[in-house]
Amino acid sequence: MKNIDEMREYLKKYDAEYLLNFYDELNDSEKEGLINQIKQIDFKYMKELYNTKAMFNMEENKITSIPAIDKNKLNDDTYEKSGIEEIKAGRLAVCSMAGGQGTRLGFNGPKGTYMLELDKPTSIFETIVIKLKEAYEKYGVLTYWYVMTSEQNDKETQKFFENNNFFGYDKEHIVFFKQGELPLLDTNGKVVLKDKADVFMAADGNGGIFRALGNRGIIAHMKEHGIKYLAIGNVDNILIHMVDPIAVGLMKENNMELLSKSFMKPTPEGKWGVFCKVNGKPRVIEYIETPRELLEARNEEGELIYGDAHFGCNYFDVELLEKIVTEKLPMHAALKKNKGLNSDGEIEEMETYKFEAFIFDGFSMAEDIIVFRVNRNDEFAPIKNKEGEETPESAIKLYKEFYKKED
Ligand code: UTP
Repeated sequence: MKNIDEMREYLKKYDAEYLLNFYDELNDSEKEGLINQIKQIDFKYMKELYNTKAMFNMEENKITSIPAIDKNKLNDDTYEKSGIEEIKAGRLAVCSMAGGQGTRLGFNGPKGTYMLELDKPTSIFETIVIKLKEAYEKYGVLTYWYVMTSEQNDKETQKFFENNNFFGYDKEHIVFFKQGELPLLDTNGKVVLKDKADVFMAADGNGGIFRALGNRGIIAHMKEHGIKYLAIGNVDNILIHMVDPIAVGLMKENNMELLSKSFMKPTPEGKWGVFCKVNGKPRVIEYIETPRELLEARNEEGELIYGDAHFGCNYFDVELLEKIVTEKLPMHAALKKNKGLNSDGEIEEMETYKFEAFIFDGFSMAEDIIVFRVNRNDEFAPIKNKEGEETPESAIKLYKEFYKKED
């Protein structure tokens, strides 16, 4: 693009010349910055996303259930032994998805840096290190920890690790990588400006992890280090148990490329997505997409047939990840209020579409899945909201109860 006129011509094709409406008011470096940001936008793709904001259509699909393997019903230690061998051989790595915005928590900073009053003030990131150190004590190996950040929070996250001396973990075993971004669209499908000099970009959802693992050299890094299994977990669950030999052993002994942990929903109303197969392929369907009769269906024992909740602790064979990396996942559109630039050049609150990929949409690339049902209170202490349910207070309570039981 030689000059600004050419850029205007180019934008005309996509009905997007308005992005340069305030260009003349910018200084030279802002001008250059804005042009570079615009060049990154795939306008055709954004149009496609805007036009296909459709929801999953249950009627056209055949839904079947997946019987879970219940941790409490495993009666020998074959899987555990087999998993321990893999862990000791360094074939398991873990990954925390920490690129989210944490809007509901209303905390101004990367969610992993949120401080909790445990025995001493402890950040969410440090709770993960506590688990990794426990694993080191048990198995004598330092597990690689990949941390996914976003453009928005990468610098602050890495600084936090440095300032805290990597929480006493070996920094050579912590690898950061950034997920991708997409522009926000307004309700007419137009790219939103954050201010006169910047396009409004946002992280592309936790499903952005697959592309990022490929693009940022993480798959290559894992292969180079002989890693076969990657446990990927939400950063905001302070009881997440990723270095889990039973999970790894189940995959190995059953020759499976995908395992996902679940807990049993106490009632059909629980708002978590649940496991099922759609046209024979593993999937998680969200609460709002699930028809009432499926939510309430029970088996002969009175258990919910579609009651296994997905809580963001997933194990992938690295070969499966390589397959998913090249796939285009569906993008989910969420209408969210954001402050953007209006046509008069003023910042105002507006409805915007944010497009996100979900990690569980990658499941359909696998031939099959093990749904591994664990005890909810042992592995799930989420921090989502400032008030109500799944708050820092409720998570701290669960955390303390768990460690009291362990002592
Ligand atoms: P959530 O979907 O709960 O989003 O993320 P969030 O950003 O934490 O919170 P809200 O919805 O804005 O309030 C589940 C997990 O996925 C990660 C989050 O960091 C969390 O660990 N995530 C989410 C990403 O890594 N990137 C994203 O783009 C979105």
